[in-house]
Amino acid sequence: MSTTDYAPQEREQWGSRLGLILAMAGNAVGLGNFLRFPNQAVQNGGGSFMVAYFISLVLLGIPLMWMEWGIGRRGGTFGHSTAPGMFQSLTKARLVRYLGAIGVVMPLLIVIYYVYIESWTLGYAVSAIGGSLGEAALAGEGSGFFADYLGDGAQLGFLGNETWQGSNQAIVFFVITMAVNLWVLSRGLSKGIEIIAKIGMPVLVLCAVALVARVLTLPDQGGRSVIDGLGIYWVPDWSRLFSSGAEVIWLAAAGQIFFTLSVGSGAINTYASYLSNDDDIALTGLATVSTNEFCEVVLGGTLAIPAAYLFMGIGEVEAASASNMGLAFVTMPQVFANTPLLGADPGASSVAVFGTLWFGLLFVAGITSSLALSQPTMAFLQGSMGLSRRKAALVVGGLIAICVGPVIVIPGVLDEIDYWAGTFGLVLFSTIEVILFMWVFGADRAWAEIHKGSDIQIPRIFKFIMTWVTPLVLLAMLIAWGAQQAWPILTFENSPGGGAYDDAGRTGAVVGRTIMLGMFLLFVSLVFVAARRGNYDKVHQGEAA
Ligand code: PHE
Repeated sequence: MSTTDYAPQEREQWGSRLGLILAMAGNAVGLGNFLRFPNQAVQNGGGSFMVAYFISLVLLGIPLMWMEWGIGRRGGTFGHSTAPGMFQSLTKARLVRYLGAIGVVMPLLIVIYYVYIESWTLGYAVSAIGGSLGEAALAGEGSGFFADYLGDGAQLGFLGNETWQGSNQAIVFFVITMAVNLWVLSRGLSKGIEIIAKIGMPVLVLCAVALVARVLTLPDQGGRSVIDGLGIYWVPDWSRLFSSGAEVIWLAAAGQIFFTLSVGSGAINTYASYLSNDDDIALTGLATVSTNEFCEVVLGGTLAIPAAYLFMGIGEVEAASASNMGLAFVTMPQVFANTPLLGADPGASSVAVFGTLWFGLLFVAGITSSLALSQPTMAFLQGSMGLSRRKAALVVGGLIAICVGPVIVIPGVLDEIDYWAGTFGLVLFSTIEVILFMWVFGADRAWAEIHKGSDIQIPRIFKFIMTWVTPLVLLAMLIAWGAQQAWPILTFENSPGGGAYDDAGRTGAVVGRTIMLGMFLLFVSLVFVAARRGNYDKVHQGEAA
């Protein structure tokens, strides 16, 4: 096979170490920290959830973060920025390149709905500034406002509607959000993603700190204090962790760790592939985890739940969390309508100021993550398919545009993709990675790989955890899933959420699965094409050397 027709683009690099750290932090810190985390914590027992959460962080999250940096950088030194080539740099077995396709498809599938939700935060920030959100919140019409924003189509789907009644607003902000994402991506790594992270991360932290300061200084309401609100997370209840039904809590906590750290998707690997062998991984990877955890448990944990609890009580907090999006988009504006601004009485200007901070912060958190979710596909199209950066951005935009339609108008598609790509898939892909890196490539070599250029020595106990504990916990999760949930879910009997599917839900699931399968087959074929062009030959030579 000739290697001449394979012409990879010149590999990109991070501009500076600070830029890399902020880009990685931007990758991890996202809607997951401020939106998903509070909901998951409340839905799964608060204090009990947090115990399982921290245990998962140490046994799964941190080890996987280091491994993905190691796998990513190693792939990068062989000229590969995505999982097919990275996996091929760990073993000669050809099958692994096709498994690697998962690490290109999954982030792309996640970004389809991720960008859509991200666009709501932009729309809401604009409505907060413009005052219409304030009016709605003061009139107690937050949920009507939300439904209007999304349009009837999003509620009923075109199945229940003869004509499509989606809202123009939601579509317009989606198009704007997509355009911004693609524009940044087409500028490349250091001139696009890195600059946005350098501006965005400080802005995000400032907005969050301002909001946290306001929440923590709010006076008691009706006998409730902010501190009681914090207690929802911080009072552990050990009994629930070992009673029957506890596996739900453990799975939710582990799932949150994967999602929030961005591990198990391929997105971290791609960012790490732009490093060289004398760059530190051990300390910088840990810095990424710490930044993410600060933004999640300290900032994210102090905002929505305690504030909503203070004004509305635990019943409302639980109801809002159960509806997932309700907490951020309906309850929070209502909270702001009750929040005094600089000593003045609460009112429209409170919603304008705090709402802008809140939705602005969500938008910035979202965009630095959606860029990270898109970059593996960008890198694959450039490096393995030989497309220019602009063409790659257009293809990514085109693929998202094709798939997002059903996500917007057919109920259940978003949840279905979120379940397979954003939850189950992360566990599956992590399992493949750990086995490949620690067992096929080998624990000693993997450990050495992570320590190349390292500023610190990772405690040796982590070598044991990475070799034994992480893979066994992951396998146990997959086996438990296979034994208890796989069959009813795969046969469309039960929805991933637990209950039985209704007809509309089943339609959404079928459409969602068709999209996912189609995309997976597309990328497997592209990996095949890349292989025919000799894309993975160099890796083999490297292995042999
Ligand atoms: N970690 C991001 C968040 O918390 C989401 C994400 C998942 C980004 C997977 C990249 C890869 O929102």
